[in-house]
Amino acid sequence: MNILSPSILAADFKKLGQQITDVDQAGAQYLHIDVMDGMFVPSISFGMPVIESIRSATDMVFDVHLMIMDPIRYVEEFANIGSDIITFHQEAADDPQAVIDKIHSLGKKAGIAIKPKTPVSVLLPYLDKVEMILVMTVEPGFGGQKLIPETIDKVREVRSMLCDRNLTTDIQVDGGINDANVMTVVGAGANVIVAGSAVFKGDAKGNASKFLKIMGN
Ligand code: DX5
Ligand code: ZN
Repeated sequence: MNILSPSILAADFKKLGQQITDVDQAGAQYLHIDVMDGMFVPSISFGMPVIESIRSATDMVFDVHLMIMDPIRYVEEFANIGSDIITFHQEAADDPQAVIDKIHSLGKKAGIAIKPKTPVSVLLPYLDKVEMILVMTVEPGFGGQKLIPETIDKVREVRSMLCDRNLTTDIQVDGGINDANVMTVVGAGANVIVAGSAVFKGDAKGNASKFLKIMGN
């Protein structure tokens, strides 16, 4: 089964609780939470108080995407406030394995992310160490961008690297996914689909249901 992870970066923060309920009721399994530090990416989004406050709004899996430098510094705090999956960027960590170990030691699932220009080969040491690999389909930092077509080949490459090793690790895609291109990324091997604008702009519940239907859920 494919998983939908609506990204609240595109939500209407005036009514964040309601928007979360909407995608929850539609059947989305994860909630994608983008944390930006203004260093690893140019922009700043939101942090611990927001996550802590929405934790009681839903039982959905909190899929936290850290776009921050030196992520190991904050792993414990993000684990303690209710993250279920903590994904960090390979490019942002001196010792990715240490970050993975720390996430696991706190009883959480670990994800490793790569930007569009980072070669998939950097993932080789971690393929059997993480629960999820995030192949960014736009440059991280902003919602509402267009998917970079070349990234679809990277998804295909990662899936084949995993298959060669008999691994069924989740592959997440994030950025520019909409109802017209979602099956292309699923066809390439992605099974955890992030969508921000395409879900939250307009009728969030209707949009999430439509995605899930297209994805065969
Ligand atoms: C971008 C973020 C994404 C973003 C996706 O840096 O990681 O999660 O919210 O937004 P859309 O789906 O609008 O491209
Ligand atoms: Zn994200």
